[in-house]
Amino acid sequence: MTEQNKFPEGFLWGGAIAANQVEGAYKEDGKGLTNVDLLPTGPERRKIMEGYIKDLSPNRDHFYPSHQAIDFYHNYKEDIALFAEMGFKSFRLSISWARIFPNGDEDTPNEVGLKFYDDLFDELIKHDIEPIVTIAHFDVPVSLIKRFDSWKSRALVDMFENYSRTLFERYKDKVKYWMTFNEINMLLHLPFMGAGIVLKEGENRTQSLYQAAHHQLVASAKAVKACHEIIPDAQIGCMLAAGMTYPYSSNPEDIWKAMDRDRESFFFIDVQSRGEYPGYARRFFEDNDLDIHMESGDESLLKENTVDYIGFSYYSSRCTSTDPEIMKKQTSGNVFGSIKNPYLEVSEWGWTIDPKGFRITANQLWDRYQKPLFVVENGLGAMDAPDENGKIDDDYRIQYLSEHLNAMAEAIRDGVDIIGYTSWGPIDIVSASTGEMKKRYGYIYVDRDNEGNGTLARSRKKSFEWYKEVIETNGESL
Ligand code: BG6
Repeated sequence: MTEQNKFPEGFLWGGAIAANQVEGAYKEDGKGLTNVDLLPTGPERRKIMEGYIKDLSPNRDHFYPSHQAIDFYHNYKEDIALFAEMGFKSFRLSISWARIFPNGDEDTPNEVGLKFYDDLFDELIKHDIEPIVTIAHFDVPVSLIKRFDSWKSRALVDMFENYSRTLFERYKDKVKYWMTFNEINMLLHLPFMGAGIVLKEGENRTQSLYQAAHHQLVASAKAVKACHEIIPDAQIGCMLAAGMTYPYSSNPEDIWKAMDRDRESFFFIDVQSRGEYPGYARRFFEDNDLDIHMESGDESLLKENTVDYIGFSYYSSRCTSTDPEIMKKQTSGNVFGSIKNPYLEVSEWGWTIDPKGFRITANQLWDRYQKPLFVVENGLGAMDAPDENGKIDDDYRIQYLSEHLNAMAEAIRDGVDIIGYTSWGPIDIVSASTGEMKKRYGYIYVDRDNEGNGTLARSRKKSFEWYKEVIETNGESL
């Protein structure tokens, strides 16, 4: 790399999506029902995402946006052609567990489900696009929730291992980049959406969630082991919903609180990347009388099977304080809210916009783990209004992305090893937090509204040409 190059050669530019937010076809070709198929739009969504759901079947009075989503299941060839037109080098997608094992634990996988992803990978490879695959992006088959209480049960560890091994065996010649759990730290904040966990009245929430976390961490290590055995030339990573927490003031109490809050998330990656439970987590368990059941062999399994790279999403930084008055000034954000940072603007959905925070977060992760980083989500959810000719001039999106990409270039110059960048939702998709379609991230517009009306036609926004040039020039146009 010469001094003037902002990005290394072979940098994996691309976009990222998740099965449940794009595919639709939620009952087609043998697919089983998943937790994310039970997230409606509207006011009840939040409570359900948090784990408070009574009936584990769709309710006729609700609209479930994932059931049709943007029908990527039937339209992926056309969509991939558009990604190829932008020059994508990589494309991150997730596999729906319930397409492969409709109930999560059958003896034989569903061949039609396996074939769908086979064809999808072939299509990407045909266009020289590297598939980056998340094994679990929130989906858990409902059958596993009903029969085992989802990740609260140790039984899921072996089922997940079997599911992962099935994928590695089948796609070993096509997929060389894998990730285990999307935003694994989501489990503590939105347990039903993140991990299919239903909370019961009177249940010790913290105990249940950290026990489930242990099961996911062990399952993740088993998947890493299997991946290294079956596809020795592959890389497998973890995935963190990142974004540093700033202290509101220089009061050491605020500084400690901010650090403590970040550790809630780092806890997962510390285990996945360093291979052991950090001291602060053990103290947390002790102070809160948590009894996390670990089996003999877990410790060495975690130690011997750490990830190859750290995948992360970055949308916003966060901010916290120990002053209850200041804590009242809340704003929303990815995974969990934050207090409003007085120096920064927020998006139409209240998410803090902080490109410098991207550089800070990337440096923080690099300093902590010293492993390659992969930015697998970043972007601006915004309302787009087509003009009378149907054109969308999304300069606000271009501005957000330019500022963040420049911040990423700075991080690379700081010495941070970043192997790629897949922006979130290169085509408009269903929002995870709200279920809306109007919260759009794409370079490609999809004609569909919050109620499911629209032709599903695709069209290019102004940012389409902009991103194409960024990729073509390997970031020099920024
Ligand atoms: C991340 C998730 O939390 O943020 C995605 O991994 C999600 O699934 C993305 O879509 C953006 O959030 P939202 O709520 O704007 O869709």
